[in-house]
Amino acid sequence: MQQSLDRFRECGLERVRRELASPAGTALRWQGRDYLSFASNDYLGLGCDSRLAHNGAWTYGTGAGSSPLITGWSIPQQRLERDLADWHGTEAALTFSSGYATNIGVIPALCLAGDTIISDERNHASIIDGCRLSRATLRISRHNDIDHIRELLVQSPSGRRWIVADSVFSMDGDLFPLADALALAREFDAAIVLDEAHATGVIGRSGEGLAGTVPRDDRIIVVGTLSKSIGAQGGFVCSSRLVVDYLIHTCRSWIFSTSLAPPTAGAAIEGIRIIRQDRLLRERLWANIRSLSETLGIPPNPSAIFPFHIGRAQEAVRASEALMEVGILVPAIRPPTVPVDGCRLRISLSAAHSETDIQRLADALASLKQDPGGEKV
Ligand SMILES: Cc1ncc(COP(=O)(O)O)c(C=O)c1O
Repeated sequence: MQQSLDRFRECGLERVRRELASPAGTALRWQGRDYLSFASNDYLGLGCDSRLAHNGAWTYGTGAGSSPLITGWSIPQQRLERDLADWHGTEAALTFSSGYATNIGVIPALCLAGDTIISDERNHASIIDGCRLSRATLRISRHNDIDHIRELLVQSPSGRRWIVADSVFSMDGDLFPLADALALAREFDAAIVLDEAHATGVIGRSGEGLAGTVPRDDRIIVVGTLSKSIGAQGGFVCSSRLVVDYLIHTCRSWIFSTSLAPPTAGAAIEGIRIIRQDRLLRERLWANIRSLSETLGIPPNPSAIFPFHIGRAQEAVRASEALMEVGILVPAIRPPTVPVDGCRLRISLSAAHSETDIQRLADALASLKQDPGGEKV
């Protein structure tokens, strides 16, 4: 273990935890210093919104106390599941303790021995782990390559076929070609498990995600998290009554884990209500996305995640540290999250950022690029 840790350090892959002493908003106090943060997935600023704090803790307690099939299925959790299903236009929904728990439970419960899973090479770790736990045959498709997905479908003639993808890729910020994938799913009688983690609250007519941009189809099983734009904690699946009933009987990370805490469910209900009703909030986020794209001189970014490519791990860490010196927090993303030479700064925008915040970030990034001796990058 010590040798491994030494090696991580030598390769610039050492991980350290640093104390956060404030809410995780755009202005935060981290390790004793104040920063302007572009590190959070709280894309609408709801994680710091006091309206989510009126969440039923006094009525329902702070802990669910048991798993949902014992006594843990609280009234806030039931209402949250109704609201999620209504928002996504599905018959039913099921909530989990995290987005990670959702993927590692739902994928192996649905995708069985004899089935084939086609999983995008840039899918999130929770999808990868869910696929590894499944007994289905796993085929990896080239990133966002519809022709390759078709090829893999053709090569898997027997058993059920599942296409599994992030709707917004978490480290690249680009979108899965869902309309094309749905056409393929119809042609080959396949289903799609779509992880809306970074699309919820950002994309779709009422912020419901990428699935909201194509005609509703039961072939799309939506999974997601309550922990990013919704400003709470937990995960969910939205689908037909049949699929949800089946998961209630088979999904191990749901059956064998304590239910979502009632105040967490209460906070998520309020987060979803605000997203659905407050269009301006999403418009503010999109104005910020357009503004940063223009300032950086890149085409309009399709999501709130901007990758700023650097190269190798040590350089990405140096770039992140150089930004910290001027009070700006942008995390360096390194292997195993991205390939060895694909290290980057990952900028997450929020509706809570101001135009001044965005200009400050753009100026700092420009000065990183211009550093002539390459000392910073
Ligand atoms: C695409 C994707 N799916 C799932 C998760 C896991 O969600 P959670 O943080 O709620 O466990 C994340 C990130 O954390 C993610 O980026």
